[in-house]
Amino acid sequence: MCSMRALLIFFCLLFSKLSPAEEINSTVGPGYEIMTNKFKGNCVACHELPGRQGITSTFGPSLHGVGARLNQAELKQWIVDARKINPNTLMPPFGSNHGLTAVVHKNTLLDKEQIQQVLNTMSTWR
Ligand code: HEC
Repeated sequence: MCSMRALLIFFCLLFSKLSPAEEINSTVGPGYEIMTNKFKGNCVACHELPGRQGITSTFGPSLHGVGARLNQAELKQWIVDARKINPNTLMPPFGSNHGLTAVVHKNTLLDKEQIQQVLNTMSTWR
């Protein structure tokens, strides 16, 4: 009887670990695709990310655990326009064209939906 209970506890623990609702350190999905695609966010040009081995840049801070360090509003501000956080930042603004003089772009580097997808992915990095 006792071993049955132990087995039950074991499976409960196993399934609670595998629960998709608790997606931690997600390295799949549209947000991750944008971050690693050099024609989209290309965050890997400057940042180390979960799930990326080998050649990674250390120009910007590592994004490991960034979902625990920063809240949603802070994460979003970094993506949209980091100059609002640090006016001298060297991180490009992905949601603003403000400040360009030599070229005029109709679109920002990422649109609102893409920014939300990147935000969702980074939020899981704990
Ligand atoms: C050209 C290089 C570059 C690119 C590309 C870049 N970043 Fe950054 N990022 C930086 C730098 C440099 C910093 C530190 C900024 C500072 O100190 O002002 C930074 C800071 C950050 C931070 C704050 C991290 C912390 O721990 O405080 C986040 C979040 C972030 N970047 C997310 C992104 C995301 C998401 C992308 C892609 C959509 C991206 N970055 C693309 C250079 C870059």
